[in-house]
Amino acid sequence: MLIDLPGVRIAILKERAAGESRVAITPETVKKFAALGATLAVEKGAGEAASIADADYKGAGAEIGSADKVVEGADIILGVQAPDVSLLKGANAGAMVAATFDPFMQKDRVDVYAKAGLEALSMEFMPRITRAQSMDVLSSQSNLAGYKAVLVAANIYGRAFPMMMTAAGTVSAARAFIMGVGVAGLQAIATAKRLGAQVSATDVRSATKEQIQSLGAKAIFVESVEGIEGEGSGGYATEMSDEYKAAQAELVSSHISKQDIVITTALIPGRAAPVLITDAQIASMKPGSVIFDLAVAQGGNVEGSKPDEVVERHGVKIVGYSNTAGHLAADSSALFSRNLFNFLSAFWDKETGRVELDEEIGDAVRLTQGGKVVNERLLG
Ligand code: NAI
Repeated sequence: MLIDLPGVRIAILKERAAGESRVAITPETVKKFAALGATLAVEKGAGEAASIADADYKGAGAEIGSADKVVEGADIILGVQAPDVSLLKGANAGAMVAATFDPFMQKDRVDVYAKAGLEALSMEFMPRITRAQSMDVLSSQSNLAGYKAVLVAANIYGRAFPMMMTAAGTVSAARAFIMGVGVAGLQAIATAKRLGAQVSATDVRSATKEQIQSLGAKAIFVESVEGIEGEGSGGYATEMSDEYKAAQAELVSSHISKQDIVITTALIPGRAAPVLITDAQIASMKPGSVIFDLAVAQGGNVEGSKPDEVVERHGVKIVGYSNTAGHLAADSSALFSRNLFNFLSAFWDKETGRVELDEEIGDAVRLTQGGKVVNERLLG
């Protein structure tokens, strides 16, 4: 979409989804957008759960107002989770909405956006190319989630992480096993190492082996199945063969029974998360062990895990949050809003006053335009 300056108006609403503590803009990014010539309007109280006061937004140059007021005449709406279309009635025709849309699971919402004539830009669909790294909310949020998962697991665990030599005797180091070594997994390895655990990790993508070792952790890999690479397009994992899955289950079974902490992070785009730990495997673990299921909101990697609950099975505590990054709301908001700024500013022409996405990124993230659903991944 083309936007005529002067005065591109950007609106940011308070997030309304249950448990969402993040906000799509910070005072820092208000200033950066303002430097591009935009007018920023932030709903009253939008930053409260992320420890940002209205006065700080105001100080950075934003208008503060009711939802209706800030959306009135908006050309761009930013969100962490896409706002309900009913809130966007006052926006300009064809306004851009950049947020997470959960497009595969929430196809109805995408249809509603199309009907409303809005241009929905799904931040989850950002292509995994070098120049889009700074725009990628999945990476920025996963990074923090990987860190938090380890801290929460450490907190629930009834023993210490590091080896400690005390006058009363030695406390042995915890063994932590990270399953899925993408962005979250790498951060989980680094965090568990920093806390002093003995760390091992696995993934289906063979490229991760070196990354695991370079962080000083032990790589646990299926070696017996020929021809596995595990990597599909865009650096994402592919669904593995039955032979591979059987070999992986066997390997994991023998390894997992010796672990104190397990962090699972495995995701396959557009599908439910793969189950990596069965109830029988949980039963083989030592009582008091802790599993953090980072995929719990996508169906879960662990049998029996439930979002936002500590489930106890066979003496093992299984925990997972529906919104792990939201538990670090100030930092996750700061990174999320920088991702949004890096994205829009890359296509912002100060001279002509237009935001025009290029083909590679525009076609990847755009879900709806001109009253229609236009994204290949949703149409295919
Ligand atoms: P993800 O969130 O899609 O999945 C997490 C991890 O689980 C992945 O490493 C995946 O291979 C693994 N996994 C899937 N099924 C599994 C199974 N059955 N058993 C064990 N592990 C399984 O992945 P994420 O964090 O998004 O990163 C994937 C890759 O993409 C990484 O190499 C990352 O560096 C790259 N990436 C590149 C970006 C860019 O260039 N702009 C942005 C984001 C990621």
